[in-house]
Parts: sequence; structure tokens; C-alpha cells
Amino acid sequence: MEHKEQKTAAKDGGGKFFALEGIDGSGKSTQIRYLTEKLMEKGISCYTTMEPTDSPIGSLIHQIMTGRIKTDNKVIAALFVADRLDHLLNDIDGIVPKIEKGVTVITDRYYFSSYAYHSVDMPMEWVIQANEQCERVLKPTATIFIDVDVDTAIERIAKNRFHRELFEKKSRLVKVREKYLEAFERLKEKERIIFVDGNQTPEKIAEDIWERVQKYFL
Ligand code: ADP
Ligand code: TYD
Repeated sequence: MEHKEQKTAAKDGGGKFFALEGIDGSGKSTQIRYLTEKLMEKGISCYTTMEPTDSPIGSLIHQIMTGRIKTDNKVIAALFVADRLDHLLNDIDGIVPKIEKGVTVITDRYYFSSYAYHSVDMPMEWVIQANEQCERVLKPTATIFIDVDVDTAIERIAKNRFHRELFEKKSRLVKVREKYLEAFERLKEKERIIFVDGNQTPEKIAEDIWERVQKYFL
């Protein structure tokens, strides 16, 4: 499949492409459920997906993240790029073929996750350049950033999962949130970003997202 030109989803009657972003525990999966339901009520056919994916590359990433395989941070960042390109282009359930068929795709994380998480340990410029091919292939119709206080996110995570190193997790998430804000500021002219206050009830956040999606992107 050739992708010579930079694409933004939703051209020529294709589907739209929404990317949900936020720190761990920000409520992305919850909001994806609400958004998908609302889009489907409007008769829009939707496909939801996430990164890292469950492809062989995604499975390698999971093994690295759980400590079963050790490697350098640059290698991890590069694997996320490879996983993302496969997520976009593979013939079986790739995002691009779906959008070309008119399906609206909603993903839990896309390249802003890389910009935020990997630039804690390496220059953001490097991460942005490494993702350039992904950006050329497909830019989101909109990136929806659920901004939540780190303490709130940690409380939500702690309620549901077993975490031994919550303190470490907290200091890292504080940095990741800062990096997200830095990346949005840096790319605000090139990308369409919806910011929502993720400290509210799930229903109120869903309303805020839907109001903006309907008004500007449908
Ligand atoms: P993420 O996908 O960003 O990790 P989730 O949607 O899985 O986040 O939410 C993490 C946890 O917080 C879940 O248990 C979810 O039920 C809960 N949660 C999500 N949104 C809210 C909210 N607005 N207020 C309180 N709890 C929430
Ligand atoms: P996951 O368990 O799916 O977390 P969440 O429910 O919060 O999305 O793990 C995804 C983790 O991978 C999360 O901590 C962010 C990280 N990540 C990166 O470091 N780089 C990336 O490019 C992506 C997509 C995710």
C-alpha cells in the first residue's frame, strides 16, 4: 500500500480518526465507550482500538514493559513506532484501510503518547522525528486529551490494580503530564486538540467531549 501524501482522516467521505490521550488512569477507556456509543447513535460506524496493540510487535512491547525483556529506552521508543505503523497499515485490521472504507476509528493512545512518555528520558525532538512516518500516513481528525490531576489518576489506578511502586509511578506521571502539555504547546498549529477536564464525573467529561466533537468535527 502506498501512502505518498500526508493524510488527515475524514477526507473524501472516509471515516474520521479520534485519538484519546492522557496519563494512565485518566479515564480514556471509559470515555471511548461513551464517545463510541454517541457516534453509533448517530448511525456512524465505529471501530475502537488501542496502543500498544496485540500484534507480535505489541506483544514484544508488553514483555519489555513487564520486565521480561530488557532493552534500551531508544529501542522501546522505536518499537512503539513500528507497532504504530503496523497498527495503521496492516491488511487485516489496519486503521487506514478501515478509514478508507468509511469507518470512524477511535484509538486509546497514538503518537502523542510517544511524545509524552518517551521524552521523559530522551529529547522530544528525537521522538517526534521517529514518528514522522506515522504522522505522514495519518493525522487524527482530533486528539482528545483528558487532563487529570496525578493524585486523582493514582487513586483510580490503586483502586483497581495492584501497584507496588506507586510513589515512583507518581513522580513519573507528573513528568509525563508535563511532557504532554509541552508537546501540545509545541504542535498546536499542526494538530487539532480537544482538552477536557478529566477531574469531573465520567458523564460530565463525556458531555464536554461530545459537545466539541459534534460542533467541530462531525
Ligand atoms: P485509562 O484507560 O485512561 O487507564 P480508565 O477509563 O480505565 O482509564 O479508568 C481508570 C479507572 O478509573 C477505572 O476504574 C474507571 O472506572 C475509573 N474512572 C474513569 N473515569 C472516571 C471519572 N471521571 N471519575 C471517577 N472514576 C473514573
Ligand atoms: P496500558 O496498560 O495499556 O495503559 P493505559 O490503560 O493507561 O493505556 O499501557 C500502556 C502504557 O504504554 C502506558 O503506560 C503508556 C505507555 N506508552 C508509551 O510509553 N509509549 C507509547 O507510544 C504508547 C502508545 C504507550
